Amino acid sequence: MRIDDLRKRCRGVNPRDVDLLLADVTGKPVTWVIAHGDEYVDEAMLEPLLERRLKGEPLQYIRGKTEFYGREFVVDDRVLIPRPETEGLVEAAIERAPRGATVIDIGTGSGCIAVTLALERPDLRVIGVDASIGALAVAALNSRRLSAKVRFVASDVLTAIKRREFIVSNPPYIAEAIVETLATEVRDHEPRMALTPGPRGMEVIEQIFDQARPAPVLLEISYGQDQEIAGVAEAHGYKVDDMLKDLAAIPRVVVLSAAW
Ligand SMILES: C[S@@+](CC[C@H](N)C(=O)[O-])C[C@H]1O[C@@H](n2cnc3c(N)ncnc32)[C@H](O)[C@@H]1O
Repeated sequence: MRIDDLRKRCRGVNPRDVDLLLADVTGKPVTWVIAHGDEYVDEAMLEPLLERRLKGEPLQYIRGKTEFYGREFVVDDRVLIPRPETEGLVEAAIERAPRGATVIDIGTGSGCIAVTLALERPDLRVIGVDASIGALAVAALNSRRLSAKVRFVASDVLTAIKRREFIVSNPPYIAEAIVETLATEVRDHEPRMALTPGPRGMEVIEQIFDQARPAPVLLEISYGQDQEIAGVAEAHGYKVDDMLKDLAAIPRVVVLSAAW
């Protein structure tokens, strides 16, 4: 069927998503798809992908990839889809990790933080840890595909790690009850353990503080957690040195050092 005719039949799916899926099935860039409405494609290849999208599956899982910090990462439903705001955390780690340090990325997921850090700061020794074996498989695949030097370790926070010099983490931080209010695309498709650590949303963060001290910690936090984080940090031997805001001026990255 002609691309333009296919587009007209795809009402209900965002036209931008249709173009990206057409790019994947034709193996051409999306700019080619947009400029070649008269070309023919096999609709049977597109149909099952549209079906999945109409059922609410995130586009990134259907495509099996997403972009992070200018690189392509493989993703599937074993990992959280890397978010643009996490690039702010990576930026802060690139700037602040001491030369030659061993950096641990706690809750590495797709490996987007660990792999990017290893590629942008080749002087660092980067270790990615996760409690999900499925996530570690995806992270290792991304590391191989992008030729990054990262060691991945199965670990509940830092329990399997001896050396900790600098910690970076985008931990699960959403309170359990709040997860139920999220968009179905997130709630029903992304791994529950990537979203929530428990009823308070602070459980993994507290574990990080308890196990990481005295190493400096860079943490991504949720919208509105900036007030609570200072108190939790203080109770667990850390102090907030800086709070970095995202493009919408919302505090999203906390820079912490050991208080004792
Ligand atoms: C919010 S996701 C972050 C994924 C990735 N770093 C990113 O920024 O896209 C949190 C990750 O922490 C992992 N995780 C949850 N609880 C954990 C624990 N107790 N120890 C280690 N990893 C954990 C999850 O499996 C998930 O991959």
